Amino acid sequence: MEISLREVRAEDLDLFFAQMQDPEAARMAAFTPEDPADRGRFDAHWARVLASGDINRTVLADGVPAGHAAVYGPPGEREVTYWIGRGHWGRGVATAALRALLELVPERPLYARAAADNAGSLRVLSKCGFRVTGKGRGFAHARGEEIDEYVLTLDG
Ligand SMILES: CC(C)(COP(=O)(O)OP(=O)(O)OC[C@H]1O[C@@H](n2cnc3c(N)ncnc32)[C@H](O)[C@@H]1OP(=O)(O)O)[C@@H](O)C(=O)NCCC(=O)NCCS
Repeated sequence: MEISLREVRAEDLDLFFAQMQDPEAARMAAFTPEDPADRGRFDAHWARVLASGDINRTVLADGVPAGHAAVYGPPGEREVTYWIGRGHWGRGVATAALRALLELVPERPLYARAAADNAGSLRVLSKCGFRVTGKGRGFAHARGEEIDEYVLTLDG
């Protein structure tokens, strides 16, 4: 399977929105918007994101949009994030997408955050060279409670 990244197009947003409605994925990611079903807030968020100059890419699996990957935040504190649709899980898509993103964005260090029990995301990050460098707690809307999270760092 060939994994590639391309710029986000307006028509991709319907897919990203649908992926956020998946309760299993939302539970994994944990730190989701307060109301993922609020399309107005989603569209406003993406309008800001796409105007921000941050790196946002649609992940293509054999040419088919499968999710998204991004690097965001102020210089020196940039974080990676990604979300892959459930139909594509378990085939190396997130790992290949993150590797491609890291080639696109040469600056280091880069950071990531993951719920402490998001084993899939932690494995993806570890395979791409990130190491756990901190631990925190935050309110996870998708869980309705405060949970542990790890902060991970990719050094140059
Ligand atoms: C987490 C997520 C990105 C993984 O995507 P994916 O394309 O299935 O990941 P990969 O196929 O590249 O998997 C890489 C590794 O993680 C492991 N893995 C994937 N999902 C896993 C899970 N739920 N539990 C344990 N390990 C998992 C795979 O076995 C693989 O390890 P291996 O190479 O040692 O076998 C995807 O499930 C997702 O988007 N979830 C919802 C959103 C989310 O959690 N985003 C991250 C927020 S921090």
